[in-house]
Amino acid sequence: MKSYFIPIKKFHDEPYSKIIGFPNGTKNQIKKRIIELEKLKVKSISFSGKTTIGKLSILGKGYVGVVVLARKDSKKIALKIRRIDSQRKNMKNEELFLKSVNKINVGPKVFGSSKNFLLMEYIDGIKILDWITQLNGRGSSKKLKIVIKKILEDCFALDKMGFDHGELSDISKHVLIEDNIPYIIDFESGSLKRRTSNVTSVTQAIFIGSGISKQVQKIYKNPTKNEIINALKIYKNCKNRENFEKVLKVLKL
Ligand SMILES: Nc1ncnc2c1ncn2[C@@H]1O[C@H](COP(=O)(O)OP(=O)(O)OP(=O)(O)O)[C@@H](O)[C@H]1O
Ligand SMILES: [Mg+2]
Repeated sequence: MKSYFIPIKKFHDEPYSKIIGFPNGTKNQIKKRIIELEKLKVKSISFSGKTTIGKLSILGKGYVGVVVLARKDSKKIALKIRRIDSQRKNMKNEELFLKSVNKINVGPKVFGSSKNFLLMEYIDGIKILDWITQLNGRGSSKKLKIVIKKILEDCFALDKMGFDHGELSDISKHVLIEDNIPYIIDFESGSLKRRTSNVTSVTQAIFIGSGISKQVQKIYKNPTKNEIINALKIYKNCKNRENFEKVLKVLKL
């Protein structure tokens, strides 16, 4: 992806100010945010990606943040900018959650945060549904199985450490694939206190829910819904490796 980096000092004015103060930041809020970015040593921001705000391309946008490609020192990173209208007070929780899941090698590596920004590893990837849709020809089913198995292994690791992601039933928004490797993203709704349902949510989203499961079924024949639900029930009762392996077996992984 070709990218042109714009220095932070240009962000006081439109159209760039719109990105760091989305959707309606005041001059003063923008000024404070620029100081925050300077403290974080974010030097410049690039406009590339599939989503747009006005005429500017960005990596993505949700209800909490606007995500852009940025440069910290000389390194490319993903910068999640807290929306002015977000319900979250700051980005600290998300940073702490990312830090804990990074310990088990899950999620983009986190590099720091401030009130309005989160710095993390840039995943030069595409959404899982787009990735599956573009799979074709020989070797597709093998590639797909490897990716799904890795997602499930990450979910099992999260279950084991007691971290519930919370939004994995909406897998199409929360997994990016880079070079055939899946990354779970967006941990801000996570919890270390809730009962974990990472493996069960993701399995249902991939094999039972609508959208992705239809695409998956085109590539390899899934087991019946009953078989999957039964294996998940056993796993849910006792989330150990043995029961997780049973889920993988039913899913032909
Ligand atoms: N580390 C990253 N590297 C590349 N792109 C990313 C990264 N993190 C997020 N994105 C992109 O930005 C989008 C929005 O990110 P994220 O889901 O974290 O925002 P959000 O505001 O919390 O969204 P939601 O309202 O759905 O919870 C993602 O769907 C993805 O396309
Ligand atoms: Mg979110």
